Order: sequence, then structure tokens, then C-alpha cells
Amino acid sequence: MRAVLCRAWGAIDELTIAEVPPPAPSAGEVLIAVKATAVNYADAIMVAGRYQTKPPLPFSPGLETAGVVVACGEGVTRFSPGDRVMAILAYGGLAEMAVAPEAETFAIPAGMSFEEAGAFPIAYISSHVALRWQGRLEPAETLLVLGAAGGVGLTAVEIGKAMGARVIAAASTPEKLAVARERGADAVVNYASEDLTERVMALTSDRGADVCFDPVGGALFDAALSSLGWGGRILLVGFVGGVPQIPANRLLVKHRAALGSSLRYFRWHAPDKLRRSVDELMRWYGEGRLRPCVTHRLPLEASVEAIRLLTDRKAHGKVVVAMEPR
Ligand SMILES: NC(=O)c1ccc[n+]([C@@H]2O[C@H](COP(=O)([O-])OP(=O)(O)OC[C@H]3O[C@@H](n4cnc5c(N)ncnc54)[C@H](OP(=O)(O)O)[C@@H]3O)[C@@H](O)[C@H]2O)c1
Repeated sequence: MRAVLCRAWGAIDELTIAEVPPPAPSAGEVLIAVKATAVNYADAIMVAGRYQTKPPLPFSPGLETAGVVVACGEGVTRFSPGDRVMAILAYGGLAEMAVAPEAETFAIPAGMSFEEAGAFPIAYISSHVALRWQGRLEPAETLLVLGAAGGVGLTAVEIGKAMGARVIAAASTPEKLAVARERGADAVVNYASEDLTERVMALTSDRGADVCFDPVGGALFDAALSSLGWGGRILLVGFVGGVPQIPANRLLVKHRAALGSSLRYFRWHAPDKLRRSVDELMRWYGEGRLRPCVTHRLPLEASVEAIRLLTDRKAHGKVVVAMEPR
């Protein structure tokens, strides 16, 4: 099979395409003929050797995928060859075949294309886990989303609306803010040209936001923390802008909380809640409340370009690498 290969830790430009033997499913795993795999910012971090885990070299990046089951390992009961599935992967989605644990593989609902399905698991499930289980977002609360047109950010906007919150979307360009508005954001802040804290305070009559979904961190974290009201929760989802330090006194006085949320670890520690997250997401999808946003579709040969759209901050929604013509 053809696969994108990372042979040494470094820049994504060093990734190559190679012919390699297809993986074999072990017990409890399914083998998927890949149709579409969305790239994630984390692919670049993994290739650089800076991700939470380092796969053995060489490996294929790709943290999620969608395709057709071709074989099942021993003990697999929920799937059979021919099933249309999407999956969360440890890595390996940028290849013609990928293996996924059965517990992290999900049936593609009727009406969802392979491109949408390949872009669904990481963004939607991560955002749901953060907002439902960590943020405990309540209807009528105010949710502030940073990087609101990005992969996880845009799904947090949609999920916030589905949970009944008022959503303030924050991003760096008018075009990105228009995308967030189109997906349901009630108000927007351009943090490249406006003061984030002042604007959120103005939009909330000085109460502050109840929950902030933050996949950016860096310099924005401080302003986001200041824009939280009494009992506010800030969700640490990613650090594309750098890892911030948290001044503990700013949590104490207003009964605020900073909560980490990692799909990678959550799915192993709380598989039952993961399943409930997926069930709720699939129900919302069936009701037309979630619309996966795939803005770029590239061939396997252009995988580096696909990841670069994210690291250059040029994409919104999801960028998908597709294996076959549409
Ligand atoms: N914890 C979890 O479970 C989980 C799950 C998925 C992803 N993540 C993490 O969340 C982060 C975002 O992932 P993603 O796949 O959604 O990425 P993405 O699609 O590239 O979105 C990231 C957003 O961050 C903003 N941004 C701010 N500073 C940036 C910079 N220096 N470089 C690039 N983007 C910047 C961009 O929006 P503006 O231009 O509008 O600022 C961009 O839309 C990553 O750190 C990823 O590892 C965590």
C-alpha cells in the first residue's frame, strides 16, 4: 500500500510517500481501507517528536480516518468487512490502510460522506468531551471559543449551540469570524485587532464568560482567563500559541477553574463516557445540528501541503486527504 512516512523527527517537509506492507489487525482491531483522513495540527507536533507519545520510526501520521472495513481481528463483534466506519487512531491514517481499535471505531451515519466522516472524530469528540465532561457547560451559559474557525474550535461553536449556550467566537480574521457566525456563533471577537477581555466583558454586560474553550493558549490565555466571570471554567485543549503559566490567585478569587481535556487519554480512562459523547454527537448530526466543515480536499501526495495549511494558519474547518476521486 502507499503511505506517508515519517522516518526521522523533524519538519513535515521531510515526509515522503512510500510503498509499505499493509498493517494486520491484532485482536480487538479492525483493518480499514482508507477513503479519507483529516489532518490535524497535532500531526505536525507528532512528526516533530514533540507529541505526548512518540510512535516507533518509521510511522505514518494521521490521527483519524474514514473508510471501509476489510478485515477484523479476533474478538471484534461490532463490525464486519464492508461496513462504512470512522475511527480515532494512535497514528497511521495517512495511508491506504489503517488499523483502529474496535472501541474507537464508529459506524458512519447515513448521509455522511467519507470526507465528512474522516474529519469528524477528533474535532467533534474532543470538543464534546471538553464541553460536556470537563466544562459541564449548562444551557444559557456563555461559552467563549478561541481559534473558533479551526478544527476543534469550529466544532466547539456548533456543540456549544447544540448544548443551548450563548457562544462568543474569537479568531484572528474577519473571514474566520464569518465562518464561526455561519456555524451559529451569537457574537464574535477579532483578537488580532480587538482587546479580547474588554470585548467579552462588553458582550456579557461585565459578567464575563462562564466557560472558555481554549485550543490556542500562549498570550491569549491570560486575556481569556481575565474574561471569565464568577465560577468560570477555562478548558485547556491545545497550545498552538505556546504553553501558558496559570497565576493561581486569579483562580481563587472568582472561584474559577482551569481544566485539562485530552481526547487521547480520556478515551482510555473513560470509554463509557466516550461512547455517550459519540451517541449524543450522532444524534445531533441526525437532527441536522452539526455540519462537518471540510474546506480543503487534497490527494495523499499533497499531505505535507495539507498539514502546512494548518501550521501556516491558512485553513478553517477541516483539511482532508482523500484516497480516491470523489
Ligand atoms: N486536547 C484534545 O483532546 C485535543 C484534540 C484535538 C486538538 N487538540 C489541540 O488543539 C489545537 C488545535 O488543533 P486543530 O487541529 O484544531 O488546529 P487548527 O485546525 O489548525 O486550528 C488552530 C487554530 O488556532 C489558531 N491559532 C492561533 N495561533 C496559532 C498559531 N501560532 N499557529 C496556528 N494556529 C494558530 C488559528 O486560528 P486564528 O488564526 O483565528 O487564531 C487556528 O484556526 C492543537 O494544539 C491540537 O493539538 C487537542
